[in-house]
Amino acid sequence: MSGRSTERHVVVLTGAGISAEAGLATFRDAGGLWEGHRPEAVATPGAWARDPEMVWRFYQQRRAGLLAVEPTVAHRALAEFERTAAANGIGFDLISQNVDDLHVRAGSQPISMHGQLFELECERCGSRVVDREHVDPAVFVPCSACGLERLRPAVVWFGEVPRHLERIEQAVLKATEFVCCGTSGAVYPAAGLVAAARGRGARCWMQALEPPDNLDPLDRFVPGNATEALPAILEELLR
Ligand code: OAD
Repeated sequence: MSGRSTERHVVVLTGAGISAEAGLATFRDAGGLWEGHRPEAVATPGAWARDPEMVWRFYQQRRAGLLAVEPTVAHRALAEFERTAAANGIGFDLISQNVDDLHVRAGSQPISMHGQLFELECERCGSRVVDREHVDPAVFVPCSACGLERLRPAVVWFGEVPRHLERIEQAVLKATEFVCCGTSGAVYPAAGLVAAARGRGARCWMQALEPPDNLDPLDRFVPGNATEALPAILEELLR
């Protein structure tokens, strides 16, 4: 095993854009989720407390929509890259802001910093369940452990702390190459990870339709669809 290869560590951060071609709307592009629904109106603990029916309807539509789509070439390329990188002694971490499970279905094990749509959790007893069956927008799912009448989506809402921040910090500290794919760089702390990696000397690629808010002149910006651009970046990383 060569000394150089064991020192390399590739970190990929994905956002809604990597799932756009699967058919899932992004948050901030034209036609994005938040156009019809202001984010602060649906994705906050306060909204859930004030109007749980509206918030539940919104998330149940997202959950039902997710059942109807499949991972794309971009999701599968990341899973394949992870296997090839491991075989070549290159470290790898996939961090995702996405609450869809398309990375998992493609064969990756992402660090899901904003939670998962198919998980529900109980605000009273803390139990968490995987639920792909109950997607009726008008029917709450009760807690089978303690009987509370409605579980909440196990996603991180505005004002809540993202998950796995210690693991994410460890990944960023190790990064020699950092790739952002399909994220506008508008929501922190996720948007700050690339700056932390860059500050430690990592080479950075930014892949999206438009230059992201957190693009730096030193970064390689690769415009275009993730299904074409991401596999090309990953191939370059293996050359
Ligand atoms: P955004 O909707 O903010 O940004 C989507 C990004 O994807 C933009 O940079 C687009 O240019 C890019 N994009 C769109 N289609 C693409 C395609 N086919 N190929 C490649 N890129 C494409 O989504 P996020 O950055 O993921 O947080 O949003 C970050 C967070 O804001 C979300 O995780 C969510 C939201 O509020 C929480 O819910 C806590």
